[in-house]
Amino acid sequence: MIEEPGCARAGDTALLIGKDRREYLIRLESGRVFETHRGVLPHDDLIGQPWGSAVKTHLGHPYLLLRPALSDRILHLPRVSQIIYPKDAGYILLKMNIGPGSRVIEAGTGSGGLTLALAHVVRPTGRVYSYDVRADMQNLARRNLEKADLAEFVELILHDITDGFTETGVDALFLDVPNPWDYLAQAHAALVSGGFFGAILPTTNQVSRLLEALQGLPFGLVEVEELLQRPYKPVAARLRPVDRMVAHTGFLIFARALAAPTLADTGTVAAEGEEAGDVCQTVDA
Ligand SMILES: C[S@@+](CC[C@H](N)C(=O)[O-])C[C@H]1O[C@@H](n2cnc3c(N)ncnc32)[C@H](O)[C@@H]1O
Repeated sequence: MIEEPGCARAGDTALLIGKDRREYLIRLESGRVFETHRGVLPHDDLIGQPWGSAVKTHLGHPYLLLRPALSDRILHLPRVSQIIYPKDAGYILLKMNIGPGSRVIEAGTGSGGLTLALAHVVRPTGRVYSYDVRADMQNLARRNLEKADLAEFVELILHDITDGFTETGVDALFLDVPNPWDYLAQAHAALVSGGFFGAILPTTNQVSRLLEALQGLPFGLVEVEELLQRPYKPVAARLRPVDRMVAHTGFLIFARALAAPTLADTGTVAAEGEEAGDVCQTVDA
């Protein structure tokens, strides 16, 4: 079959969704066969089909053939560590102003959940420097990045961040490690002045410890946030939330790296004023 633009091609990653909403992420390869309990589908029957088509197994069960969204790729990642979920990853990107051309450091790499999101948006001229102490983690992340065609935008660095980061002047730096408070001086040294710092932590006592450590260094505009995402059953006549939700993933902590004299000049800037932080003001330009 001729491979038209807008159609699934050999080498593409496809998302197949059955009537039961079960999802499968597969790499299309001529000669291979996709097998489920609802029958088999030769990849050659999928290659050349327009995205959005319904295709049937040999038992007549339909599957929707879709190009996966980045969030699908992240949720389907083979993983051995907790990943950063799309709901948090999307906000992290916006909050830390990460986009095409950004130079970003993250640690640890883990299974590469956040790495995928970072690489996706820094393309084509930006770069992600992703640190981890574990080679097995980075090997898994490398495979995950290769499958998503994003490996060329990422440098995987097998190194303990206790020793600091090789890069300097980076636009943003994100820590997903159990003890980020131990690496704040290293993070500050790597960030451009005014650059974006972020971290994710699962418990409030870890957050308190990080806040205390941030106060001792030239960081300002500290914020702690948690995102709750509640999906709904999309049935017009009986619209209501689904029975289950991912209630807690982690607390997000953001701060800006300040030039050291700024801290001395303003005194309290690192401790984000409670009064000012709660008020939304519109200022005429
Ligand atoms: C929860 S995982 C990161 C998950 C990742 N953000 C994702 O979305 O897939 C934490 C990782 O931090 C790494 N790590 C912990 N301490 C580290 C250190 N001092 N230097 C470098 N990596 C570290 C661990 O090996 C682990 O792979």
